[in-house]
Parts: sequence; C-alpha cells; structure tokens
Amino acid sequence: MLRFALRLFGLLPFFLIQPVVAQTDTAYNQPFRNQVHFSPRQNWANDPNGLVFYDGEYHLFFQYNPLGIQWGHMTWGHAVSNDLMHWKELAPAITEDTVMAFSGSVVVDERNTSGFGSEGKVPMVAVYTGHRKGNQSQFLAYSIDNGRTWIKYAGNPIIDRQQPDFRDPNVFWHEPSGRWVMSVMLPQEQKALFYQSSDLKNWSEVGSFSVRNKALGIWECPALMPVPVEDDSTGRTKKWVMLVSVGDGAVAGGSGMQYFVGDFDGKKFVPQDTVTRFLDYGKDYYAAIQINNLDRPVTIGWMNNWQYANDIPTSPFRGSMTLPRQLSLRKTATGYVLHQTLADEIKAIQGNETQISVIKGIDHTKEANEFVNDADAYELMIRGSMGNFGVRLKTGPNEETVIGYDSTRQEIYVDRTKSGKLTNNPKFAARTTAPFVVSSSSNPTAPRPQLTLHIVVDRASVEVFVEGQEPVTLTNQIFPASTKPQLEFFGKSLRSIEIRQLESGWK
Ligand code: FRU
Repeated sequence: MLRFALRLFGLLPFFLIQPVVAQTDTAYNQPFRNQVHFSPRQNWANDPNGLVFYDGEYHLFFQYNPLGIQWGHMTWGHAVSNDLMHWKELAPAITEDTVMAFSGSVVVDERNTSGFGSEGKVPMVAVYTGHRKGNQSQFLAYSIDNGRTWIKYAGNPIIDRQQPDFRDPNVFWHEPSGRWVMSVMLPQEQKALFYQSSDLKNWSEVGSFSVRNKALGIWECPALMPVPVEDDSTGRTKKWVMLVSVGDGAVAGGSGMQYFVGDFDGKKFVPQDTVTRFLDYGKDYYAAIQINNLDRPVTIGWMNNWQYANDIPTSPFRGSMTLPRQLSLRKTATGYVLHQTLADEIKAIQGNETQISVIKGIDHTKEANEFVNDADAYELMIRGSMGNFGVRLKTGPNEETVIGYDSTRQEIYVDRTKSGKLTNNPKFAARTTAPFVVSSSSNPTAPRPQLTLHIVVDRASVEVFVEGQEPVTLTNQIFPASTKPQLEFFGKSLRSIEIRQLESGWK
C-alpha cells in the first residue's frame, strides 16, 4: 500500500509529499522497530492488558509509561485493530492518579450486569490493579463508547485485602455458573485466587490454586481459559488451561511462562498434574493473556524479559508485543500439552512466497536473500530430516543469529550470543534451547522423519514454532546492525526452504 502511495506521490512536487512520507516513515521505521509486531509509537510498554474483541474491533491495552522510556507511571495504553495485524494507537485509556493502573483485563458486559450501560449502550468494563506503595487492590473503569473514553468507578477499590502484593485480575464470563469469574495473583505465595461476581462490582472469594516451586519466582498475570482438545471426534472437548507468568527461574533464565492443564468448575481448578511445563523456550515471552469475547483461545504476550527489559536499545519506544497465537491441546503419553500456532490472522499480511527444493551442490542463498530483502519481515519454513540443519541470519561482520535443530542433543536452538547490541549483557547473550525428539520408525524402509522450523523474522525478533508430538516455540529479541540479514542455510539433512514475505502492519 505504502509502496504504491510512494510511487504515486513520486509524480508530485517534493514539498507536497514530504509531510506525509516523513510522518509515516519516522514514526515506525527505526532500525529496531518491529514491522509485524505492535509497539507504542514512543515510550515504555510492558504487559498486554484487557485484550478483547468487540464490535468488529480488537483492543490491545498495555502497561504504558506516558512520561518516559523506562518503567513508571503505569497507565493503560490503547491500540485497536480490525485484523490483529494492523494496529492503530489511540490515546491512553486508564490514567495514573493516586494509584498506578497495573495489569488487568476487559470484559464486554452485554447484559449490563454492572449497570454501567446507558441508553442501550453496552459497557466495556476494565478490571485492573490499583497500585500504591504498600497496597495493591482491584479497581474498575468502564467505557460506553467502544473503549475511546474511560470512567473510573466511584466505588473503587472493589477488592482490597490490605496487601502489598495482590494483582493482575483476569476476568471472564463463566457460562455454567452464570457468573463472572476472576483469577488474580498473590505473587509471593505463588498462588492464584478465584472470585465470583454477578455484577462485576461485588466479589466473593471461592477458591485458589497454588503450586509452590522454589526454583521459580513470583506468580503474575494469571490467564484461565477453555482450550479445545485436538483430534477429538466430537470436536467439542475442552480442558481448562491456566497460564502463569513467573518472575524468575524460567527455562531460559529470568522471567517466562508456565502452564497447567486441568478442569475448572467456576471455583476450583484441578490440574492433571503439577509438572512444570513452560509455554515458550526463548527468553522473551511474558504476561500473555487471552483475547476475551472471542470464540477461540488466542493469546498475545509481551516480548521481553525483566532481566534486561529496561536496557533494550530501542528508541523512542521500548517494548514490543508477540504475534497472536492460537491454542489447542494435544494428548500425549504424559498428559495434555499445549500446541501454539501463529493465529490465522497472519494471512492478512502474508505476501509473495517462494519454494526452494534443496539440491546438493547448488547455492540457494542468493535466491533466498533477494527474496527476503524485498520484504518488511518474513516467515521461513525450513524442512530437514533427522540430521543437523538450520539457518544463520548474518547481520554484520561477525554478527549472526543461528537457528537450528541439533540431532545429537535432540533440541531446537536459537543462538543469539552474537546477534548484535546488548550481547555484552550476559543475561541477554543466550543460546536458548527446546527439547525436541524426532522419533524414527523401526521399519528401515519407512521414510526418514522430517521436521520443519517455522520462523518469523522481524527487525528485532525471531519467533520459532516447531510441530511435533510435543510442539515447541522459542521467542527471542535480537538487535542486529543491519535490518537486511543475509541468510545462510546449513546442514546435510536440509531438504527444502519456503519463504513468505510479510507486509508491515504499520502500512
Ligand atoms: C508483570 C507485572 C504485573 C504488574 C505490571 C506492572 O510484568 O509486574 O504483575 O501488574 O507488570 O507494570
């Protein structure tokens, strides 16, 4: 679209076109500005908040500092999209006053149970944590103009336990009990509390869920949702999934996410087991929650890690979201495991694609590089059989990010130790890995099993999805010297390469 506009404007005198082009370009075109992931135009952002679909529009609220590029003055930033890929930032929604507005969720109160609706207008209700020194309690705000303006509820706070750490309410409508349900964290106790309400204002505590694990940090940002089980003949079986963000000790070091699968009756969550299962094996996946009021579970997370979040070298903004992911559950010998794929909405920005069958002795890199250099961002599908294979994204002299499958160690890895800026920080300079077993058949004539590394490469991040009996994802930021990587594929077992161009969501 923009390319077309530029071509058209090329015929006009320069002074006429400059303001238009300059505005679009400088706003979202910095070297580390991801092109297919949301980030605020300027200033600091962390957790996604209040993800909700209403009236044909997706809302992304987020932890935002309107006054600076470091964490502080927490306010709910706001962006909207019609397709989950093209975002438009609006004015901040919930501002700081005597309390900061910490993380929370938004529900659409169709039946006007809260009484906040008027003149037939459906209220959107935000439930968030009001934070001040020594106290965190739960607050409400509502909007009757599709989220454009927000009114804080006069009866705030709605739940106050007189505790310094009590946060991140995740609210949804629970049909079987005909009630609103909230899960909310007692972080230091590694515990989620459950509350119920019929009007969003008055809440009673009905249960809790806790799995103590000294190796992991505090619990933040619960997200509880029903998720469909794959290959179920009725197509209707669902189990409940509880996402938990852990402040430290996650699989790649620092903050990350774990999940539990189980049953939930509106009051009690009974997990299938208390095994530690991580949601993502990279360093940058945190605070993901579901999009409310949607008919399927889709999540968005914050693509960062508290170990170095305040130091990432981006400007004039700091903090980017992940791409939306669709969730389902897969039954394995060891229980249900989560299967995350890129949400189908990615189609909205997919462009041309090319397929390359790898032929021994032929160098495919030139062809591949020309194709990716033409794109704003791109997806790579690299297929190989059981040996080692992968891709190097070369972004400067002695600078590269390596993504591959290591058959000896039976793992998928993303090595960003030489990926560019911030690699002088030992917490950042990581080789992240995910266990991945490719089981071979005992029948010697059976075709050798293959696996595909599905990678989304943006200016400052790589997200890797790998399908298998136990699918894995790895999400990592990178800060390379060049926005145009030169790809170098490697490995004898490499079979084919598919590349799909992605168009910038800012256009
Ligand atoms: C998670 C978190 C939340 C809190 C918010 C504050 O990243 O620490 O627990 O509500 O960030 O910005």
